[in-house]
Amino acid sequence: MLVTNAYLLRRAYDEKYAVGAFNANNLEQIQGIIEAAEEEKAPVILQASQGAIKYAGLDMIATMVISAAKNSRIPISLHLDHGTDFKQNVQCFRAGFTSLMFDGSLLPFDQNVAITKKIVEIAHPVGVSVEAELGRVGGTEDALTEEEVATLMTDPAEAERFVKLTEVDALAVSVGSVHRMRVQAAELDIDRLRKIQKVTQIPLVLHGSSGVTDESMRKAIAAGICKINVATALNMAFMRGMSSALKEMPDEVDPRRILGRGREELKKVVKEKIRLFGSTNKA
Ligand code: G3H
Ligand code: ZN
Repeated sequence: MLVTNAYLLRRAYDEKYAVGAFNANNLEQIQGIIEAAEEEKAPVILQASQGAIKYAGLDMIATMVISAAKNSRIPISLHLDHGTDFKQNVQCFRAGFTSLMFDGSLLPFDQNVAITKKIVEIAHPVGVSVEAELGRVGGTEDALTEEEVATLMTDPAEAERFVKLTEVDALAVSVGSVHRMRVQAAELDIDRLRKIQKVTQIPLVLHGSSGVTDESMRKAIAAGICKINVATALNMAFMRGMSSALKEMPDEVDPRRILGRGREELKKVVKEKIRLFGSTNKA
């Protein structure tokens, strides 16, 4: 069934686990994520990044996820990941997304508040959820030093003001992770996370989880992280599956036999993440 992020995250917040928010770009990734969540009896968030929207088209992703969700017995939310502007959020709202995100992390505080607030005003009356980002989670392409990552982290006092002013359902925070890392080596600033949690009292979101150690993620969940975004680790698994299939069957002409192996590998990783996040049997 199709539900909102707010619905999924409220229970995660109360019971101290995290819902996996998995990025999908195509049919096989959507299927792999949903099959894994069904087998784990876990709630799940499927999210579309800017790259996915460019690649597959917004309506195509929305239609595939909504149809899969309606035919599934587990609760599934469709979320816009790192929404770039007001207009795109409205387009996703119209296409049937049950959760939106405005990423104003590069904007001055007041502008971030103003646009996020406008989105909340259109989304909340019809029960659509909104996530925002404060502080900035960079990417490996920025080649940030540890000190630079620290300067981009979310300030607890600002987070408190931001949440009061915008009334968002969830807040993406910067606490030491970096997008698109291929190895799990980053440790999070758990003290900062606790401080943010204490003053905001809403579900917090971890971005860039592919590069974070399992232990740090466990501690982050205990400190208030309720939604964990995973993209790179899934893409790596999908490619690993397809590469090994191509090696075994270099003359294969049926794409389903290659894509299907990508789906299988991705599914294994999604199941591992769901177990780590503590959302098994929470559907
Ligand atoms: O918004 C998407 C996530 O933050 C994914 O990050 O590719 O490092 O797992 P990741
Ligand atoms: Zn992200």
